[in-house]
Amino acid sequence: MQEISLEGVSVRFGDVVALDGVTFVIEPGEKLAVIGASGAGKSTLFRTLTRGVPLQSGRMTVGGRNLYALSKRELKEMRRRVGTIYQAYNLIPQLSAGVNAALGEVGGMGSVGTLRAFLAGPDAGLSKRIRAALEEVGLGDKAGVRTTDLSGGQQQRVAVARLLVQRPGLILADEPFAAVDSVTTERVLETLLNLNRDGATLLVNLHDVEIARRFPRVVALREGRVAFDGSPERLSREKLAEIYAGDPREAERGAGSDPQDIRHCREETFRIAEGRDGVSAH
Ligand SMILES: Nc1ncnc2c1ncn2[C@@H]1O[C@H](COP(=O)(O)OP(=O)(O)OP(=O)(O)O)[C@@H](O)[C@H]1O
Ligand SMILES: [Mg+2]
Repeated sequence: MQEISLEGVSVRFGDVVALDGVTFVIEPGEKLAVIGASGAGKSTLFRTLTRGVPLQSGRMTVGGRNLYALSKRELKEMRRRVGTIYQAYNLIPQLSAGVNAALGEVGGMGSVGTLRAFLAGPDAGLSKRIRAALEEVGLGDKAGVRTTDLSGGQQQRVAVARLLVQRPGLILADEPFAAVDSVTTERVLETLLNLNRDGATLLVNLHDVEIARRFPRVVALREGRVAFDGSPERLSREKLAEIYAGDPREAERGAGSDPQDIRHCREETFRIAEGRDGVSAH
């Protein structure tokens, strides 16, 4: 995907300012983690990248062209090159794993007729590519199983298989590791990073700061504004406390409180807080 540029992007939902003057540039092939408290605007940011929500003000360009001024046809073409994994996986539950993975291939056509062709039989018409993708995520034997009959982690992997089939230029993964075990997390992360190595721009919205630290660039949102943009080494404990202040999930973890208390909280949070103590430039 070409360079994506956001200049003073603001989005409102009634009285709620979801994004407030967001400015940053995503280079082609870059990988970046987006963090921030609940309601900070992370999902909204992802939605703007596919023109999924109107801008109140600001400008968004892809390869120098105003995303919000593209014709319907151009927008459709652009969206075809974007692969998404959302927390709800946006799979079609009644369809088999194989057909859902196949949607990576036929998504651009989007016609009921195409779906009907796939529905002819659970495995009918599944290309080698789709099989290979399902095998890569460890679901080679589940192609014919209805997605609704799969576990959360397995559904997650179907969404990844769909990406492998689609080979998008831009991947938007909105909390892809929520509610999956650590083995699945590692596997999904590895696959996403491989797709990035092959050239895809990768944006991952994460709650787990430790995973975010494995990305070379972290963008943090706080109440719709960019609160941090840079290398994770610069993400100090103080900065994290500021980013997550008032976040119910973070309060549970104890970030921003006394380091002695942090010891009793989730191990990874402790490691981040402890490991970075005093290292930061902030
Ligand atoms: N469709 C909508 N209608 C009204 N308000 C919305 C809508 N979508 C988002 N918002 C509001 O905009 C703000 C930002 O929401 P967003 O979903 O972007 O947050 P988030 O950072 O993704 O949070 P979370 O970590 O909980 O997923 C929130 O206050 C939210 O309630
Ligand atoms: Mg969200």
